Amino acid sequence: MIVEQFVITPFQQNTRVVACENTGTAICIDPGEESAAIVDFIVGNNLELQAITLTHGHLDHVGGTAALSKGFPDAEIILHKGDEQLYYGLPQQPLFMGIQPHQLAALGFDYEAPPKLSRNWEHGETYVVGELNFKILHCPGHTPGHVVLAEEREKMVFVGDCLFLGSIGRTDLPGGDYAKLIDSITNNILSLGDDFTVYSGHGPETTVGRERTTNPFLTGVYQIGRGKYL
Ligand SMILES: [Fe+2]
Repeated sequence: MIVEQFVITPFQQNTRVVACENTGTAICIDPGEESAAIVDFIVGNNLELQAITLTHGHLDHVGGTAALSKGFPDAEIILHKGDEQLYYGLPQQPLFMGIQPHQLAALGFDYEAPPKLSRNWEHGETYVVGELNFKILHCPGHTPGHVVLAEEREKMVFVGDCLFLGSIGRTDLPGGDYAKLIDSITNNILSLGDDFTVYSGHGPETTVGRERTTNPFLTGVYQIGRGKYL
């Protein structure tokens, strides 16, 4: 399994190209912005980009979809139905963050309308990439249609903005829900097993075991609305 990471966008988002080393079949998880480095990596390693696989619809995860799709028009684009509104509303997303219309271009947030999705993720489906098999798990909470991609044989899970080293995704943006996020993490990520490596949408890698035992949002040390130290 090949995992190449590109830290891009003003949000330091982790875009990844993940490929089956035996077949050269690849996916790009969350292209946050247009990036020559991503294209160069795919082309330079003779990979076949099968799909642009989106964990959720936030701008720092989908902002490069249009550009990448133009370069690789055969690659399907997949997102959960619950985040379609966010995805197709990409040009308006910066405005929800308080950025003024006249600032969009200067800040690099003048997005074109994103390309049409090929289809939607289904919870529990197995998505095959060469000899890799990703289990798709719907994990609402950060956004309504967030999914994670778990490769059970390689023991790797790509969690987008659900879970970070020592933290969890924010739930104060439209569609966010703290209780749902904790349920999603508990039922669909921690349940994978302590030996899974966790690839987050921002920041370093971690493991399920490390987060289960030390993440203050999961151990009960920190609970929203109850004060930090109990
Ligand atoms: Fe996000």
